[in-house]
Amino acid sequence: MNDEHDTHDLPGPSLWPIGFAIGVACVLIGLVISIPVLIVGAVVALVFGFLWVRDLFVSRPVTAAAAGLPDVAPVATEADLGDNVDRATFLSLATIGVSGLIGAGVTLPALGFGVLPSFMGEGVDTFDVDLGPISNFPEGQYVIATYLESPEQGEVSRRTAFIRNNGRTDDGVPSFTTIFSRCAHLGCPVQPNGPIDEEAKKDVNGVELRPVLAASFGCPCHGGLYDSEGNRMAGPPVRSLDRYEFSIKDGNLVLGRLFSVGTVQGVGASAKIMKYYKAYPGVHVDGIERWLYPIPTPGSTS
Ligand code: FES
Repeated sequence: MNDEHDTHDLPGPSLWPIGFAIGVACVLIGLVISIPVLIVGAVVALVFGFLWVRDLFVSRPVTAAAAGLPDVAPVATEADLGDNVDRATFLSLATIGVSGLIGAGVTLPALGFGVLPSFMGEGVDTFDVDLGPISNFPEGQYVIATYLESPEQGEVSRRTAFIRNNGRTDDGVPSFTTIFSRCAHLGCPVQPNGPIDEEAKKDVNGVELRPVLAASFGCPCHGGLYDSEGNRMAGPPVRSLDRYEFSIKDGNLVLGRLFSVGTVQGVGASAKIMKYYKAYPGVHVDGIERWLYPIPTPGSTS
């Protein structure tokens, strides 16, 4: 016997949850590999999520058999969007909403702390470090420059650069080799292989300058070896040493952003530098290996 308690508006089979799940998966993948994928995923998740939720408000006449249930009652009522939401639907939506809020409260802070620094480039770039007059950099010789990247943070922000004045390019532009000391394997501090002239040490506005005869650069952690242009020669590093952009302002040498280097062809002022966006240590920036890493480093040549 059927009475009104035997009939229900059963939600029909729907593909919206699958689309929503694909969108969420794209968002998570996008967080790791690329912002465009993240945006596409967010749009897909929003569209399918909207359609899914909308379906919950729309009552459809669906037989139990169509819903994969035992044949208990034939039909529900015709109801359009805007009809009263029954109690079961309300409870479903309330459960989903509360679960979503709890999930967001737990996930978003962790996601923010874990992911945002990658997009903000924290600790990656250095901007406008004034190393003083270019006359402090004798032509053809490396100088070790150590400075505080962030004086308010103190010694923990001390950085080291290897600077060589290459004279001028064929176009008459001042040329400097400006190598960052962080190893391209795991980030240990690289050392110049050659004697340091401690007696010629200078302090220029808080920047310590020490001339060195650097035939190459070596990493004490795992034996990485680089030539005098910063090219990887041996050991586990995956690319050349990173470099700084630089400019000359009022006769002073000013270091700018860091960038990564695939290889350097040639030496000094005539060197051709395969330049890429700053990548983390251990990440390939060119060759087939680049495509095997999840975080792409789109590059350009200069
Ligand atoms: S960190 Fe330099 S070789 Fe490993």
